[in-house]
Amino acid sequence: MLDQILVPRAYSLAQTFGLDPNEVDPSIETMGYEIPDPSTFTDPQMQETAAFLRAAVPAIDPLYKHRRAIISDIYYWSNAGDDALLLWGPTGSGKTSAWEQWCACLGIPLFSIKGHKAFNEWEATGKTDLVDGNTVHTPGPLTLAAQYGLPVIINEYDRIAPAKAIVFNDIFEGRPFPVPSNNNMLVEPQPGFRVVLTANTNLVEDPSGNYGTASSHDISLLERLYSVHVGYPDRDVERALIEDVMSGVGDDLLAYWFDQEGFKVSTPNGLKEGAAITRAEYIDALLDVAHKIRAQSKDGGSTSDAALERTMSTRILRKWAMHAPAHARAPEKFGMSGLHLTLKKYLSNLATQSTSIALHQAVETVFGVGMVLKD
Ligand SMILES: Nc1ncnc2c1ncn2[C@@H]1O[C@H](COP(=O)(O)OP(=O)(O)OP(=O)(O)O)[C@@H](O)[C@H]1O
Ligand SMILES: [Mg+2]
Repeated sequence: MLDQILVPRAYSLAQTFGLDPNEVDPSIETMGYEIPDPSTFTDPQMQETAAFLRAAVPAIDPLYKHRRAIISDIYYWSNAGDDALLLWGPTGSGKTSAWEQWCACLGIPLFSIKGHKAFNEWEATGKTDLVDGNTVHTPGPLTLAAQYGLPVIINEYDRIAPAKAIVFNDIFEGRPFPVPSNNNMLVEPQPGFRVVLTANTNLVEDPSGNYGTASSHDISLLERLYSVHVGYPDRDVERALIEDVMSGVGDDLLAYWFDQEGFKVSTPNGLKEGAAITRAEYIDALLDVAHKIRAQSKDGGSTSDAALERTMSTRILRKWAMHAPAHARAPEKFGMSGLHLTLKKYLSNLATQSTSIALHQAVETVFGVGMVLKD
């Protein structure tokens, strides 16, 4: 029955993920699914399962920039043995979304679990509640993934206390596991069940000291992992992302805003001011700010005592670039910089005072203006 719902389909890697066909042979394919429209089934049970699994396929992020190196690693892992995949790296670098978008593009239903300090086994395997005097069992994401033969992602895996993570040991071995809240029913993982973990650390150490609740994990776990480091994307990738994010912002608005702010940006063509700054130069300046901040942050590897506890992740950069032009009237209305105000909303308000000063200083160094604009 399930094979009529989870209909396998081969996808070209290059085409599906928008990769350069000169770098990735378009004939290389990977397997995903095409789940038929539930209304095409006559059996109500099949309709229900198809609707459930279709809804579990994540939505495609049209602005997502797939990275060739990460796609090749995931592709390699998907064809190599049964080890779990560990995607690890700094905050907001694209670990969770790399897997989510892999599933979205390949029509794969996504089951996910979030690790945290007080994590309990039932969050993965399922729980039993009393409803109107009857006990009702709800299977957890791990159980569902194992039963359907689909992958499961456990995010923030390093936040789970190692003693609580022991439940996963059998599972990484591909062995059947019990569901305590369902009379210890044994779940036999079906072919296709795979485990993906994400973490900020490599599960061994946290040299940044930034992830206070991260724990070191047992060597037996480390022996069952295929690990991929996900750092911040290359400049070209983030540049393409910002270009897309700003595609709806007109040149006239940008010119007006740059003038109002009085930006002064150093470019390969010399120092440019206000409306003379091009869109491309502005985007490069945003990237310069991001790189300056990353270099000063604990996450970016700075070990100085003054290292920043927050950073400019791809997540924040995307939001900053997207929302800053909407603050184009701030100079005129409040005498304040829209670029700085937006950074406050998405990043610096939620930083220590010293970090906040350093974040705005990075903007001022690159754009030549502070929060309060001078007449
Ligand atoms: N390659 C990319 N293309 C487009 N957007 C991206 C890309 N990578 C990251 N982003 C943006 O950054 C956001 C955060 O990414 P994601 O959730 O994958 O980060 P993470 O590495 O899992 O972070 P955390 O350590 O906080 O869990 C995404 O929702 C998306 O908006
Ligand atoms: Mg994540």
